[in-house]
Amino acid sequence: MASKLKPGWLKQPKDINAFSPAIWPRDAKRNASGELELGGVAVSELTSQFGTPLYVIDEDEFRARALSVKNALQDAAKKIGTTAKVYYAGKVFLSGAVVKWVDELGLNVDVASAGELALVLASGVDPKRIGLHGNNKSLTEIGRAVSAGVGAIVVDSEIEIERIAAAAGAQEKVQPVRIRVNTGVHAHTHEFLATGREDQKFGIAIDDVPTLVAKIRESSNLEFLGLHSHIGSQIFSVDGFVEAAKRLVRLHAELLKGGKVPELNMGGGFGINYTEADNAPDIAQFAEQIADAVAAACAEHGIKVPKLAFEPGRAIAGTPGVTLYTVGTIKDVSLEAGVRKYVSIDGGMSDNLRTALYQADYTVRLASRVSSVDPALVRVVGRHCESGDVVVRDDYLPGDVSNGDTLVVAATGAYCFSLSSNYNYLTRPPVVSVRSGKARLIVRGETEADLFDRDVELHDKFATPNKDSQ
Ligand SMILES: Cc1ncc(COP(=O)(O)O)c(C=O)c1O
Repeated sequence: MASKLKPGWLKQPKDINAFSPAIWPRDAKRNASGELELGGVAVSELTSQFGTPLYVIDEDEFRARALSVKNALQDAAKKIGTTAKVYYAGKVFLSGAVVKWVDELGLNVDVASAGELALVLASGVDPKRIGLHGNNKSLTEIGRAVSAGVGAIVVDSEIEIERIAAAAGAQEKVQPVRIRVNTGVHAHTHEFLATGREDQKFGIAIDDVPTLVAKIRESSNLEFLGLHSHIGSQIFSVDGFVEAAKRLVRLHAELLKGGKVPELNMGGGFGINYTEADNAPDIAQFAEQIADAVAAACAEHGIKVPKLAFEPGRAIAGTPGVTLYTVGTIKDVSLEAGVRKYVSIDGGMSDNLRTALYQADYTVRLASRVSSVDPALVRVVGRHCESGDVVVRDDYLPGDVSNGDTLVVAATGAYCFSLSSNYNYLTRPPVVSVRSGKARLIVRGETEADLFDRDVELHDKFATPNKDSQ
């Protein structure tokens, strides 16, 4: 009966209790009592200490991915006789601990607001290794980035040239800048769309770039680093990058006629597996194909291969993060096409907006125990006042899933914590890292005092947040 509700891509898992290494952190496994263990820590230990919902980051998995993505991109650059700067795209997940990890591993960091910049600077990253993005940077943001001495500001519209030059002039500095190009290439998962100009807010149309570069070159307070493009996110096919490389290198070659263009930044967007139906690219192979496309285009135009830069986010932070929830109410809803089991959890769109925002698919498993009961098709929903408040649209859980069980949702390390909200005045969950059998709180959970601290009428009625409590 339920099969008519099942989307075509979803297959009933062969073993509903297993954790596939293609989706989950490599060390996710069941312990002797059948509970999920992450980084050597049992989920019951995590939930009893920190409660649910809970974001958990497997530190070893995060470090391993950061290093392998960085090495893949740098090795690919080396093969075509150049170098690659790798920026961790901070918007994906930023906290003091995470910035420390990527910094230790030699990655640069990309930020997109004054808040992200403040966090990264406070974490001790060398400002020269920070890049600032944004399609509508405020004058204050520009001023702060220039005074901090960030290594690159990505110009996203013409007016920013004057604004950055003015800020740098006032501080008697020379600010390196890139130009974000609207290449007309948009990639998502398996397909890419190529038009003259992509219908979106970011970047400058290819035809307009030479005039803007000339303006940058005229300013004694600006240094032109090169072009930047970011063609999309969760990309599985390299074709969009290849097309973007062709368009960018053609423009790069034209700009070389008027002066130096030392770098080319190809952005981020490398996809990861969220479900068994995904087949994310091997990052090393992908990096080589992108580098080869750049090298081939440079050869065609008879120019030297520039230094490369990349900005991966999800490919580093996605898989190492999972979210733990407690099951509340369960409803079997009878529909014409069958019965859908709605499993409500104690979080929702306030801790994972991607399902509602992008119709993203996720994998969910029972974390607190194993079960031999036949799997049932489920929809895991949140506790917010929205019918679109869905966390996992379609997956299977053991048919005996019950109130009080702990569920775990895979690959929530990217764009979940960073997109979280206080909708319905829910407090945002804590973030815990796990490694070698130990759990460490890296961002404490919000309290009601945090929630109402900004409410001028109410803030005195709530205790000051206790920084040591979760
Ligand atoms: C300019 C830029 N660079 C890098 C990224 C990171 O993308 P991803 O997490 O898909 O690698 C983004 C994401 O939106 C972006 O806007």
